[in-house]
Amino acid sequence: MAGLLQRPQVAATCLLLCCLTGGLSIPDPRQRDALIQLEVSMQTGGQMVLTEAEERLDALLLKVKREEILRADFPPALHFFNARRLIRASPIFSLLQKMPKGGALHVHDFSMTSVEWLVKNVTYRPHCYACFTDSQSFRFIFSSQNPKALDRCSPWTLLESLRAKMVNATDLDNSIMGNLTLFTEQDPEAAYPNQDVVWNKFEQAFLMMLGLVTYAPVFRDYYYQGLTEFHTDNVMYLELRALLPEIYELDGTTHDTAWTLKTYQDVTRQFTAEHPDFFGARIIYTIHRGVNISVMTGVVEAAMKLRRDFPDIMAGFDLVGREDSGRPLWYFRDALSLPAERGVTLPFFFHAGETDLEGTEVDQNLLDALLFNTSRIGHGFALQRHPFAKVLSRKRGVAVEVCPISNQVMKLVKDLRNHPAASLMSENHPLVISSDDPAMFGASGLSYDFYEAFVGFGGIRSNVGSLKQLAINSIRYSSLTLKQQQEALALWQKHWEKFISDNAP
Ligand SMILES: *[C@@H]1O[C@H](CO)[C@@H](O)[C@H](O)[C@H]1NC(C)=O
Ligand SMILES: *[C@@H]1O[C@H](CO)[C@@H](O)[C@H](O)[C@H]1NC(C)=O
Ligand SMILES: *[C@@H]1O[C@H](CO)[C@@H](O)[C@H](O)[C@H]1NC(C)=O
Ligand SMILES: *[C@@H]1O[C@H](CO)[C@@H](O)[C@H](O)[C@H]1NC(C)=O
Ligand SMILES: *[C@@H]1O[C@H](CO)[C@@H](O)[C@H](O)[C@H]1NC(C)=O
Ligand SMILES: [Zn+2]
Repeated sequence: MAGLLQRPQVAATCLLLCCLTGGLSIPDPRQRDALIQLEVSMQTGGQMVLTEAEERLDALLLKVKREEILRADFPPALHFFNARRLIRASPIFSLLQKMPKGGALHVHDFSMTSVEWLVKNVTYRPHCYACFTDSQSFRFIFSSQNPKALDRCSPWTLLESLRAKMVNATDLDNSIMGNLTLFTEQDPEAAYPNQDVVWNKFEQAFLMMLGLVTYAPVFRDYYYQGLTEFHTDNVMYLELRALLPEIYELDGTTHDTAWTLKTYQDVTRQFTAEHPDFFGARIIYTIHRGVNISVMTGVVEAAMKLRRDFPDIMAGFDLVGREDSGRPLWYFRDALSLPAERGVTLPFFFHAGETDLEGTEVDQNLLDALLFNTSRIGHGFALQRHPFAKVLSRKRGVAVEVCPISNQVMKLVKDLRNHPAASLMSENHPLVISSDDPAMFGASGLSYDFYEAFVGFGGIRSNVGSLKQLAINSIRYSSLTLKQQQEALALWQKHWEKFISDNAP
């Protein structure tokens, strides 16, 4: 691999010198070609040696990509809500759906499964009650008896009886669905004029979801359905950030965090047994960054215990919630130092730099995440503005989890050609592509984000080698042991070869 990098570099340097000493005023075209080649070889996948069939697929992709880029309604330049229909019609997208993408390393528990399934399947189950909040949202609960009234919410209505009284429940279903997701057919810029509005709706949707998905039978099915959606999208492995909330039964009894983690483990094992081409899933335990120090300390202690008791499924720990309005990592420094102090392993996978508040306390999260030895960086949107954090991330192989659609919908970037990961990809910075909260954004699985990365900020230059590298990165930078990574890679390779032979012209 090193040899590949040296050759064009040596050639370019030599040509540069020849040119300088030769005194020509028009640069030598050979020098120009060598420099172009040198830059291409520096990008993500730039060192990948392609087979003949891969080269043919690459030529096809390049041709289609050139046509797509010339369109007036180029999807990555549009808001995803407007672009989704166009992306679905793109031949590149169909190919990316079929492509084995490896793992999705940054996905959240209650936004992994489509809201359509939640509405059509879950809210139609018996014992499902709804109330309407005074902020025009819903709350749900499953209960064997009439549940206790909530503050600032109408009396509970049994959905089954409500629907029975309606001639047509489509409007009700659509309104529930519309409240459970940020996706809208309306003008997204008008619906979400700023970050506060979009985050507020995000949090409302999340609260609404919680009553549905924390009901034990739904909790299992929701996760199983989510795994199905990722598997269908040709994702073979998942690292799920999970809040591990209290789960309830119909009679109101509840289960603790260990039960919830064990349920994830059981369902994962069942799914993997039923789908041998799926490698598995691991859980990153998360807590909202709005909690106080004593709660954080308790949760870090609990996380250390869970990691000891469930080493197979439990990958590590992270903080969630909007960085700009939550507490920075440094605020929790005592709690986050506990594992190191006690000599206990608790890998961190911190969200950091999901912000455009340059130079603020929040903006320090990137460096702090690295100081706390984070294993990966969630988003790292602000990484380009932190030259030293960037050097550390590269040197230590701390991959950045890039979630293009999330960053656009949450209003950090408008045109995905301008996403900061464009330059990270042009220099093969350690990174993976993920989808964060696909259901919330009207996406599913991983292919939409791969499309935005490959066609949007990857530009014309990113090629089959880049796609291959991104898939390999998702295994290489996962929390799996080296031995598991080799197994996963072998499984991925088998699917990749089939994908190439099925799709190369
Ligand atoms: C809902 O999903 C469950 C589990 O995935 C399935 O067994 C059931 O048939 C579905 N019900 C409906 C009404 O779609
Ligand atoms: C129910 O209403 C929706 C629109 O409100 C309509 O599209 C649909 O055809 C209706 N379904 C039935 C069975 O009448
Ligand atoms: C949310 O639900 C309310 C009813 O409580 C409804 O009026 C509104 O249209 C829904 N929002 C969306 C985006 O569907
Ligand atoms: C921290 O938050 C918890 C839960 O909200 C609360 O019970 C506790 O009193 C708080 N502790 C301090 C020191 O504020
Ligand atoms: C981070 O790693 C360094 C070097 O291994 C170690 O000295 C330090 O204690 C670790 N810090 C934390 C907070 O884990
Ligand atoms: Zn996230």
